[in-house]
Amino acid sequence: MKYNFDEIVNRRGTYSVKWDGGQVIKNMGLTERYDEETIPLFTADMDLPVPQPLIDALHKTVDHRIFGYSIFPDEYFEAIQHWFKKRHDWEIKKEEILYSPGTVHALSIAVRALTNPRDGIIIQRPVYPPFTSVINANDREVRNNALICDDEGYYHIDFEDFEAKAKEEKTKLFILCNPHNPTGRVFNKDELKQLSDICAKNDVILVADEIHGDLIRRNQPFIPIAKAACTVEHIITFTAINKTFNLAGLHCTNVIISNPELRKQFSSVMGMHLPSPFMVSALIAVYHDGEDWLEQLKEYIDGTLEWVVGFLAERMPKVKVRIPEGTYIMWMDFSGYRLSPEEVHDRIYNKANVLLEDGKMFGEEGLDYQRICIPSPRPMIMEAFERIAREFEDVK
Ligand SMILES: Cc1ncc(COP(=O)(O)O)c(C=O)c1O
Repeated sequence: MKYNFDEIVNRRGTYSVKWDGGQVIKNMGLTERYDEETIPLFTADMDLPVPQPLIDALHKTVDHRIFGYSIFPDEYFEAIQHWFKKRHDWEIKKEEILYSPGTVHALSIAVRALTNPRDGIIIQRPVYPPFTSVINANDREVRNNALICDDEGYYHIDFEDFEAKAKEEKTKLFILCNPHNPTGRVFNKDELKQLSDICAKNDVILVADEIHGDLIRRNQPFIPIAKAACTVEHIITFTAINKTFNLAGLHCTNVIISNPELRKQFSSVMGMHLPSPFMVSALIAVYHDGEDWLEQLKEYIDGTLEWVVGFLAERMPKVKVRIPEGTYIMWMDFSGYRLSPEEVHDRIYNKANVLLEDGKMFGEEGLDYQRICIPSPRPMIMEAFERIAREFEDVK
């Protein structure tokens, strides 16, 4: 079936954070302005219709008319195994698969289960803000192995600094984000192997958040770290249907742990979580029948990314941006305008009335940047960039 991703589906009145969450968004300090004309492109959530087999599966679940306590059936595990073998040539054993109602939740459990207060945890900023807040909220300490941005706007790992931080007595955990939010890097096999080797050598547990792993550019490989590493004894991987199929509202993250001892530690803090029947039927449907939709989506996203880069080159050449290797996130460097971050914010959020995320939320490395999520109908993205460009026309 051919999907029409240009279609604008009105999400107002559906409890959407993006479209109905004005007060929440203001309380979070993201913006001062939020009204009926705001174009919200801040959170990693798509404004695009999901696969038809998924809708059919959910209708079937609704038609049962009873939504009681549910189980994880064999088909649930088989669907996960099938997807990762087919898409990423990664063999996962059934017993290695655990469930969490969310990725940030799983991160918090991992931190609590596998480290102690005041232990050091390595992250690579600029990075998805909850990595920092989960560490701080649990009284652990951030060890920032900042990524290095070259003149082309391409990010690299500082391995010397990474190894020095891994060697520190108090460092117990590393949280990898791959594909990396917000820089869009998809780390290659050599990089992943090197990160894993350093962690293994220094008894550092490696938690890999790979939930954007299906959303890479067309015909480009994504290598799960569990496949690049020499040993998986110290590796925990998060995968999810939420980013790939826009199902954040169904709360499903899978946590893959090969080492039985780590699995036991993680499970004992996680406790028992029975699934929602909607989530179980959704996962089975998308992992078996969602591939055709995903390929069409990737083509659409690639097209939008190319349009944005072309538009910026023509209308806002002072903005430095690259097509990300993975994710549908763009990380735009506004330093070329020589305006303060506050002035850039005011022009985009208050004057253009487009809601993005200020780069400073991802760490001080992001001060001059703005993050935008582009998986929305292209006409909406075009309108947002038109509005933004107009507000910067007077800057010489
Ligand atoms: C890298 C990364 N991890 C985790 C999350 C949040 O996942 P969840 O909604 O499953 O907690 C996001 C959402 O944008 C993300 O980009």
